[in-house]
Amino acid sequence: MSLLRSLFAVKPVEASLSADNSLKRTLGLKELIVLGVGAVIGAGIFVITGQTAAEHAGPAITLSFILAGLAAALAALSYAEFAAMLPVSGSAYVYAYATFGELLAWFIGWNVVAEYLLAVSSVAVGWSGYGVGLLHSLGLQIPDVLTHAPLSFKDGQLAVTGAWFNLPAVLVVAALTALLYRGTQQSTLFASVVVVLKVLVVLLFVVFGLQYVNPELWHPYMPANQGGDHYGWSGVFRAATSVFFAYIGFDAVATAAQETRDPQRNVPMGILISLAICTVLYIIVAAVLTGLVPYQQLATAEPVATALAAHPQLAWLKLLTQVGAVAGLTSVILVMHLGLSRILYSMAGDGLLPRFFGAVHAQHRTPHRTTLLVGLVGGLLAAVFPLSLLGDLLSMGTLLAFSTVCIGVLVLRRTHPNLLRGFRVPAAPVTCSLGVLVCLFLLMQMNKENWLLLAGWTVLGMLIYVGYGYRHSRLRKSR
Ligand code: ALA
Repeated sequence: MSLLRSLFAVKPVEASLSADNSLKRTLGLKELIVLGVGAVIGAGIFVITGQTAAEHAGPAITLSFILAGLAAALAALSYAEFAAMLPVSGSAYVYAYATFGELLAWFIGWNVVAEYLLAVSSVAVGWSGYGVGLLHSLGLQIPDVLTHAPLSFKDGQLAVTGAWFNLPAVLVVAALTALLYRGTQQSTLFASVVVVLKVLVVLLFVVFGLQYVNPELWHPYMPANQGGDHYGWSGVFRAATSVFFAYIGFDAVATAAQETRDPQRNVPMGILISLAICTVLYIIVAAVLTGLVPYQQLATAEPVATALAAHPQLAWLKLLTQVGAVAGLTSVILVMHLGLSRILYSMAGDGLLPRFFGAVHAQHRTPHRTTLLVGLVGGLLAAVFPLSLLGDLLSMGTLLAFSTVCIGVLVLRRTHPNLLRGFRVPAAPVTCSLGVLVCLFLLMQMNKENWLLLAGWTVLGMLIYVGYGYRHSRLRKSR
């Protein structure tokens, strides 16, 4: 009984709030929106949308975006309430610690670690597709064996491709690791420049692409099912889980709470505004994309560039899009990398991970060792695995974390009704329950192999908890 009690002991909210803050508070609302949009718009819209339309949904990919957007929006409201209440780094993990106790907090934290790590790797793979395309447009060719993963994953089957490893993906992770090692402020400045370029490219794609849209390509809007999750409603639902990837990242705003000025106001606003901007852009881009070329042709490593290439008058925009995508994906990797180091930092602070992860550089004030480690592991994953596998696992880990956060809001309303809430989820019981249901529905669209991988990751996490975290937990020691 006492074991159970200690596993489910919650970390007092007050303790999270008063935790020692050795990170600098340098971010305002503008920076948070830049951070949010920087984290969200990436490989999801530039790569996965086209590939998923080709394989699962056809033009009805816009419906998938609406469904996935609903899950993201419902979760975002819950994140906003939590982030305003607990403006510390660590996000979903900290929220779970305050509501469900240590064991579940560890479980969620471990999933969020997977989420961010996979985001770094999968977006690096997407980056590689556009980077190689850009070099090709400029007349430079990198051998195929150095630009693809040695493994592929289709319909639940892993296969060998004959390639060696994805060199450009590794290089981009290495470069950003070096940047982050030096400090958050320089990195967010870099991100601001890049985000402007990325959003500009997306807007140009919409404005100029629209003029060449052929509405006949939208018919049939939902192609007839061809078995399994290829087209039809089952295809649309499956596609929603894949494109959910595109919305991931707004929670990175919450992970920066501890480095934000006036976080009670700025963090919720930052989350909701960035998500709203991205949702609108996505639905329009998806419609334009499937209106420019037959959806079957979008199964390439750079679908947006492929769609533009079909219209010679838009050749200038193709090159610009490749530049924008390369820059845009860079900012996603950067923000995810930053978020992950902060989450590990926070878990180490609670004693659930070794002190190594909590070390802060004396001069740069960044969690430098964690930053290096994330770069190493993220780079390795990007080198050998394909985007389809990394992306779907990323969506799963995130959906799990999102559902927990939605439940957490309801739990904390009951256990701590008087806590100062800078933002409140409207009609919380309905909104949060709906959030959980939509996330679970999307999770159920994933195939068995993905579930097995997720289970393997969870078992590994539990072994680490039993072997280390349980014995070193600060909360347990303090009791
Ligand atoms: N939302 C991020 C992207 O689309 C992960 O790249």
